[in-house]
Amino acid sequence: RERIIIDTDPGQDDAVAMMLAFASPEEIEVLGVTAVAGNAPLAHTEINARKICELSGRPDVKVFAGCDRPLFLDLHTAPEVHGDTGLDGPDLPPPTMPLQAQHAVDFIIDTLRAEPAGTVTLCPLGPLTNIATALTRAPDIAARIKRIVLMGGAQVEGGNSSPVAEFNIFVDPHAAQIVLKSGIDIVMFSMDVTHQVLTAQRQMDRVRAIPGAVGRVTYEMLDFYRQYDEAKYGTDGGPLHDPCVIAWLIKPDLFQGKQVNVEVETASPLTIGQTVVDRWCITQRPKNVFFMLNADADGFFDLLIERLGRL
Ligand code: BDR
Ligand code: CA
Repeated sequence: RERIIIDTDPGQDDAVAMMLAFASPEEIEVLGVTAVAGNAPLAHTEINARKICELSGRPDVKVFAGCDRPLFLDLHTAPEVHGDTGLDGPDLPPPTMPLQAQHAVDFIIDTLRAEPAGTVTLCPLGPLTNIATALTRAPDIAARIKRIVLMGGAQVEGGNSSPVAEFNIFVDPHAAQIVLKSGIDIVMFSMDVTHQVLTAQRQMDRVRAIPGAVGRVTYEMLDFYRQYDEAKYGTDGGPLHDPCVIAWLIKPDLFQGKQVNVEVETASPLTIGQTVVDRWCITQRPKNVFFMLNADADGFFDLLIERLGRL
């Protein structure tokens, strides 16, 4: 069983990732959820994280608020994709479960020091500010992390926040570079693979058929979320980026990738936030990332629909 910390900026796709994890207790134990500023300001993302815990029947999960801005840049949010709250679409009640008093970064550090080394996986689904801050403040935790499985980056597909940069990396490229240079095992779900997993109408019909509040709310979230991509790119559906991270932990054979070097551009005004992926191993730089390339989208949705039906 994977024991994970979900670091997130919900975000409709973050929300679905959380629900998939909660629906899969045989494979995944969620030690805590840490919120970060990204899709929306932190004041929204931590509330959204708690709303999703409650919707999933898990008000017992510990939710922590973390960094409210990137390491060096001003915060850049994505209301055009996710709405002003970060979780527009459904009308969810304000959460009644508490926000933990501890800072998310302290929770990450304390948990990694308290748990046996090599047993905790970090799952960042937003900008990497919390994770980079923890690594900078407590370098000893790097050797204790089993691996980092994250959503971020783009290569062939191009960017969604600049011509070359994906949102999570674009928002805090300096944090991303700290994580990529950390020597920790990293599995990366970039837009190159997440854009293969679209909420097409036939998949949305299956989501809508999930009984109860989970089916209705998930449908309403994804119905709002898909509108941006459909209008802008003319696709049938929007990409379910973040749930790929959790789906891989449950069923790794849904995805294929390759061990390569990935670095982040942090200086150039033209290309800041670009993930430079040495796909053909042109350099001698260390192969620091397992970079995902292909997804079995039908297999992914079969898993997702079956699991959400359990909540
Ligand atoms: C990433 O940015 C956010 O819009 C999504 O939640 C995902 O984590 C995709 O670029
Ligand atoms: Ca996200």
